[in-house]
Amino acid sequence: MVANASGQPDLRGEPRLRLQGINKSFGAVQALRNVDFEVYPGEVVGLVGDNGAGKSTLIKTISGAYTVDSGSIYMDGHKITITSPQDATRQGIETVYQDLALCDNLDVVNNMYLGRETTVGPIPVMNEIEMEHRTIEILKTLNVKIPSVRVPVAQLSGGQRQSIAVAKTVLREARVVLLDEPTAALGVAQTRQVLNLIKRLREQGLAVVVISHNLADVFEVVDRVIVLRLGKRVATFDVKSATSANVVAAITGAEFEAGENAGMEVNA
Ligand SMILES: Nc1ncnc2c1ncn2[C@@H]1O[C@H](COP(=O)(O)OP(=O)(O)O)[C@@H](O)[C@H]1O
Ligand SMILES: [Mg+2]
Repeated sequence: MVANASGQPDLRGEPRLRLQGINKSFGAVQALRNVDFEVYPGEVVGLVGDNGAGKSTLIKTISGAYTVDSGSIYMDGHKITITSPQDATRQGIETVYQDLALCDNLDVVNNMYLGRETTVGPIPVMNEIEMEHRTIEILKTLNVKIPSVRVPVAQLSGGQRQSIAVAKTVLREARVVLLDEPTAALGVAQTRQVLNLIKRLREQGLAVVVISHNLADVFEVVDRVIVLRLGKRVATFDVKSATSANVVAAITGAEFEAGENAGMEVNA
């Protein structure tokens, strides 16, 4: 179910992606403790928590970089297993990591298609014309503005490069997009570009998960905030009724004053 007429995601249907009772340990460190998680089509979820809370581990279990010790994963209500990045890709789960997997010396088109070039004719030759058309089309749909799709990405700004990495997930027909600190290295104007792009992903009905420690960014772009603390999901907020003070209190484990926890649902 995509966003309804009011532009809000419909949280009553089946989540696009649902995790249930996820546990993940690294030796003696239990990075994820019985974590439930859900994101709906047309929804942006902010995943927040202090350093070491388990955010990246959660993203990496969804993207197939790590396998879970126990727990279940569902896509559109169907149970799936993710034991490799290929499994995740097959399910339409695409991840944009902070250290972008772009090749500086290649142009935008070739970066978009890196790893899955379109071929034409009996001998596999990249169909540059088609790749270029499709790149231009996707960037236009997402309102990403760059001087040319034929410049090496090294010549683009940080915001433009991050936008290319996100656009690549759309090219790969993502249904779930995971972004780990997408604006961490960006200035104000470039952050704005990326936040606008995230809004466009939502408009397209994708389920989007954003890790960020910048609560201003989180409040601007997400629908719900899920808080992890020491590997546990401890709170969920609807951003329409929560304040950043509420979220900070959940992140740090501070006690709430009565009446201050508007929009909060305690998950501990
Ligand atoms: N590959 C790993 N090996 C060992 N410990 C890890 C590994 N990845 C994460 N951890 C540990 O798991 C916990 C959660 O880490 P992480 O998911 O990176 O947190 P966050 O992204 O919220 O800062 C931390 O205690 C961290 O040290
Ligand atoms: Mg992290």
